Amino acid sequence: MAIVNLPDENRTLRDSNDIKAYLSRLGITYEQWDTSRMVAAAAPAEEILAAYAAEIDALKARGGYVTADVIDVNPHTPGLDQMLARFKSEHWHDEDEVRFIIAGRGLFHIHPSEGPVVAIEVEAGDLISVPRGMHHWFNLCSDQRIRAIRLFQDPAGWTPHYTESGKDAGYQPLCLGPAYIPAGL
Ligand SMILES: [Fe+2]
Repeated sequence: MAIVNLPDENRTLRDSNDIKAYLSRLGITYEQWDTSRMVAAAAPAEEILAAYAAEIDALKARGGYVTADVIDVNPHTPGLDQMLARFKSEHWHDEDEVRFIIAGRGLFHIHPSEGPVVAIEVEAGDLISVPRGMHHWFNLCSDQRIRAIRLFQDPAGWTPHYTESGKDAGYQPLCLGPAYIPAGL
């Protein structure tokens, strides 16, 4: 389950209903999907997409998403530092940023137009949709591991537009959750 942290208010939300309600007020969708499928987190992308086909189709219908893929990042991913550098500065997109986490963790910081910056730490089973235009940035946790289904309205719309605000520099990219334990252990 996700952990939501409000660094400016020194406040942390760990209750799923509190998290959903807080994020919903900002226009962010947060859901938890049943991950007890007959598919391993390390299964090929096609198997992952097939296992979650019903949820993906429902999301596509709700949000106008046309394509889905699986992104897989670990400490050995070629070009990892360059990839992470694209996401760690405050930016926005022309389309929603929709991620369902299969394995690993990640940390979104959301900078709403009103209210404090919100840090959302996601892990396996968490679905998050950051609406188009919303300022945010993203870091991996210390284990540098995440595998996630991505949904796109138009992959071209997901290009980051950087705000150059420097807001991201004021927040530590620290994850609060436990160290990642690989599935099966
Ligand atoms: Fe983004």
